[in-house]
Amino acid sequence: MEELKKLLTQNKKVAVLTGAGISHESGIPTFRGAGGYWKQYKAEELATPEAFQRDPKLVWEWYDYRRGVCAKAKPNPAHEVVFKMESYFPEFLVITQNVDGLHRRAGNKKIFEIHGNIFTARCTSCSNRISLGDEPLKEIPLKCNVCGSLARPHIVWFGESYDGDILDQCYSFLATTELIFVIGTSGQVSVPVNMAKYAATKGAYCIEVNPEETSVTDFTDTFLQGKAGEVLPQLWEGISN
Ligand code: OAD
Ligand code: ZN
Repeated sequence: MEELKKLLTQNKKVAVLTGAGISHESGIPTFRGAGGYWKQYKAEELATPEAFQRDPKLVWEWYDYRRGVCAKAKPNPAHEVVFKMESYFPEFLVITQNVDGLHRRAGNKKIFEIHGNIFTARCTSCSNRISLGDEPLKEIPLKCNVCGSLARPHIVWFGESYDGDILDQCYSFLATTELIFVIGTSGQVSVPVNMAKYAATKGAYCIEVNPEETSVTDFTDTFLQGKAGEVLPQLWEGISN
């Protein structure tokens, strides 16, 4: 741990890539692994354009339930450390797969939510975006308040492409980052894993935080085994308040 703390104080450009595991201690279930199901459904079954086409009501009910869980959750000590990192490192970026908004609620501003945000919907016909707030929807499935067409969650679903502009900006940061943290992701989705791999091949020192080994562990320089809400505060202790 002491060696690693030294490394943190010696580097200026740092990226943090997070997955569902960082929000687990805030009470939000992960997608995979023990207790990793939302109600009785797997993400792969409902987070797809096909599922939405087949049954928009069911998909909206699932997202409405999940948004309720996210609205009640609070950032945990791991999110707080990631927030402190943003003001400590001169160059910093959070790339999160999480749609729960907890990094923003912890205070982070330099952040890309590469899978979207559960508190936002968008129209399937016009360019309208709808802010959903914390309360359950009054009407399911949600309709666009501008043109009346069906609205959908503003989420990148399985089989859909990522926002190219956001990816470019992530990759340009990762090309020269000195350190990358990979926190709480199972490494089952290829785009984020490739981002971490890219940073590592470009010379970044990679630190993974996870209770379990993952596909990222193969190329990480340091694997810190444990819960993010315990490991990160220990690592950050004595570095900044
Ligand atoms: P997963 O559910 O696949 O993996 C969660 C990871 O968190 C696992 O590796 C756990 O071991 C780890 N974990 C559990 N508790 C932890 C803790 N307290 N501290 C640190 N790590 C912990 O979640 P993701 O990798 O984020 O996509 O999944 C990737 C994407 O698949 C998600 O963004 C989602 C899903 O389909 C969309 O919503 C579009
Ligand atoms: Zn519309």
